Amino acid sequence: MKNFKNQVAAITGAASGMGRTLAVELARRGCHLALSDVNELELAKTAELAGRHGVRVTLTRLDVSDRAAVFAWADQVVQDHGKVNLIFNNAGVALSVNAEHVKQSDFEWIMGINFWGVVYGTQAFLPHLKASGDGHIINTSSLFGLMAVPTQGTYNASKFAVRGYTEALRMELELEGAPVSATCVHPGGIATNIAMAGKIDPSLEKLTGVNAETQKRRANKLINVTTAESAALQILTAVEKNARRVLVGPDARMLDKMVRLLGSWYQPLVMRQLKRMNAKSRQRDNSTARA
Ligand SMILES: NC(=O)c1ccc[n+]([C@@H]2O[C@H](COP(=O)([O-])OP(=O)(O)OC[C@H]3O[C@@H](n4cnc5c(N)ncnc54)[C@H](O)[C@@H]3O)[C@@H](O)[C@H]2O)c1
Repeated sequence: MKNFKNQVAAITGAASGMGRTLAVELARRGCHLALSDVNELELAKTAELAGRHGVRVTLTRLDVSDRAAVFAWADQVVQDHGKVNLIFNNAGVALSVNAEHVKQSDFEWIMGINFWGVVYGTQAFLPHLKASGDGHIINTSSLFGLMAVPTQGTYNASKFAVRGYTEALRMELELEGAPVSATCVHPGGIATNIAMAGKIDPSLEKLTGVNAETQKRRANKLINVTTAESAALQILTAVEKNARRVLVGPDARMLDKMVRLLGSWYQPLVMRQLKRMNAKSRQRDNSTARA
């Protein structure tokens, strides 16, 4: 897709973070928007920001893990806008828990949003994107769809799955000669609300002796590498170039190289780094407690 002017983009998870900055940047470039999220209050704020650029914006309260609702939304978008060219399957959530202790309901919750949400969005929009004659599917995986990290097994599973699904999809569309393409997005740390909104399983508090709020604050610090505004620009450039995948941020680009260079031997390095970081955090917490 060379240009977003007068195109129609649908975005899931548009109430916050990269969903919001993608919406605003697309609006700035003259792209009409169909925005959805479970958080209606914040979604309305995104619509207000995007609407300032004079494009048509429609809003839907949508839980992406609800297959029938995603299909109904796709049909509604075409009814409202006459066509749809882009679907950003962006909505996502975070969960920290060790593989041994994860509750089945939590595992299903994260897969329902991060993986099945992407699949439903792809399936529901694909016929409409084909009908538009110029379509693009943008599925959000993660740096954690390229490398695994302890406590992130469920998130890793969802994001590795998005990657495999999207890479296969891209090749299928090319083999078919379809007027639709697909890009897989692998953000590194992006300063958004994802860490603070995430779930920490209570077993992890027991295991580490660190309460959930502190764990969230630490994770929130770690993702403060790239702004959500810069991430949106990098993602849209990748769509314009029809890239197969986009590594968002210097950390994603560096760690992707490390994993490709080392194969599975990246794992001891991850563990060493984690131990170092945990020791530092403990030291910091102790000195704050003494002060
Ligand atoms: N921020 C990062 O460091 C980072 C890194 C890698 C990948 N990602 C991925 O980027 C995507 C965007 O996340 P973000 O960082 O902007 O986070 P964010 O928390 O700021 O935004 C995520 C949005 O998804 C919405 N959402 C949650 N559950 C939903 C559901 N069931 N249905 C519809 N919407 C729902 C939330 O309400 C929120 O508005 C996610 O897929 C995330 O996994 C983020």
